[in-house]
Amino acid sequence: MSKFHPLTIAHVRNETRDTIAVTFAVPAELQHSFQYQQGQHLTLRAQIGDEDVRRSYSICSAVQDGVLRVAIKRTQGGLFSSWANDTLQVGHTIDVMPPSGHFNVPLDAANKKHYLAFAAGSGITPILSIIKTTLATEPESQFTLFYGNRASSSVIFKDELSDLKDTYLERLKIAYVMSREQQDIDLFNGRITKEKAAQFLKYWVRAEDIDVAFICGPEDMMHGVSEALQEAGMPKSQIKIELFAASIPKHAHQPRAATAAAAHQHTEVTVIMDGNAASFTMEQDKESLLDAGLRAGLDMRYSCKGGVCSTCRCKVIEGKVDMDVNYALEDYEIARGYVLSCQSFPTTAKVVIDFDQAE
Ligand SMILES: Cc1cc2nc3c(=O)[nH]c(=O)nc-3n(C[C@H](O)[C@H](O)[C@H](O)COP(=O)(O)OP(=O)(O)OC[C@H]3O[C@@H](n4cnc5c(N)ncnc54)[C@H](O)[C@@H]3O)c2cc1C
Ligand code: FES
Repeated sequence: MSKFHPLTIAHVRNETRDTIAVTFAVPAELQHSFQYQQGQHLTLRAQIGDEDVRRSYSICSAVQDGVLRVAIKRTQGGLFSSWANDTLQVGHTIDVMPPSGHFNVPLDAANKKHYLAFAAGSGITPILSIIKTTLATEPESQFTLFYGNRASSSVIFKDELSDLKDTYLERLKIAYVMSREQQDIDLFNGRITKEKAAQFLKYWVRAEDIDVAFICGPEDMMHGVSEALQEAGMPKSQIKIELFAASIPKHAHQPRAATAAAAHQHTEVTVIMDGNAASFTMEQDKESLLDAGLRAGLDMRYSCKGGVCSTCRCKVIEGKVDMDVNYALEDYEIARGYVLSCQSFPTTAKVVIDFDQAE
């Protein structure tokens, strides 16, 4: 079910001193599985020491490019990103799970929309894919990007963005915001905060002209920008956010007071994956659906186990579960019954979850 496939690395490019762009060769028989939408991500898996390590990396290529590429920025002290930057070379093979994620909106060649994006650091990765794909698919739509970095030397995809700007002179506007390099216009100095976003919305773009806004970067920046957009009048439903969350601490499950009386009660869980159903029994309020399923030998898909990446997303079609944390699903997905299995604890005697309803 988790369907990792060994993919050979076709190309590695140093984008900046601490970021590599990695292109995978996708064999003909896997082309269908690795078709993707702009803004989606891949889960990579490697054995580092004696640990099975999985991390998500957003696809940075456009749907029309015909390639599958991600960018991996070295996180100080980070296990996977340091290993990848030090180790990955052309010809190496690495386990890759097919694309997942919902950081995008449907596109239509007839659209005439104005999209807005805020990215910081490696948060540009899915945004680049979204911008390229959108401008190529919708000839009358336009994009405005605010892109935060420490200095020009740390700007990932500087050349590609510059080429893109030349291609779409009238339809793409890019404003670089630098926290450690002085620029002529003071508004573009510093970090992208709520206050700065509010100023951009006052002096550079009007919230009422924007159809959809995308935000990707550190958590505080994402929340700040989202608040500024909403205070400027944009409905939350038109704001799409993607959290990379290298720094969110692993959350320890707190048993619920309401279910304390139900401690040691059991749930029969049925998991539907790839058209097959498998069942196991688990103790309520003790471990997540994902952990219990993995322990029962089911190959359920996951990456972060922290409620961030949405790789473990599934739909509850019978029974009830409680979710601990959720940084990945939007309100409308929860309303339709979607949950993160890594964060879900059953509260009824029977629960059926379905991984096949992608929607
Ligand atoms: C949907 C999604 C898409 C993503 N896309 C991208 C992308 O396109 N590009 C990209 O570069 N990243 C992306 N990420 C982030 C990526 O998945 C990893 O989280 C990131 O590369 C860090 O992984 P790591 O193993 O190197 O760090 P980890 O080892 O997981 O460490 C994470 C943090 O904890 C700190 N840390 C580690 N060990 C310790 C310790 N012992 N004590 C204290 N602190 C410690 C590290 O310094 C680091 O800040 C994405 C994440 C998600 C969820
Ligand atoms: S595995 Fe990442 S949200 Fe569940």
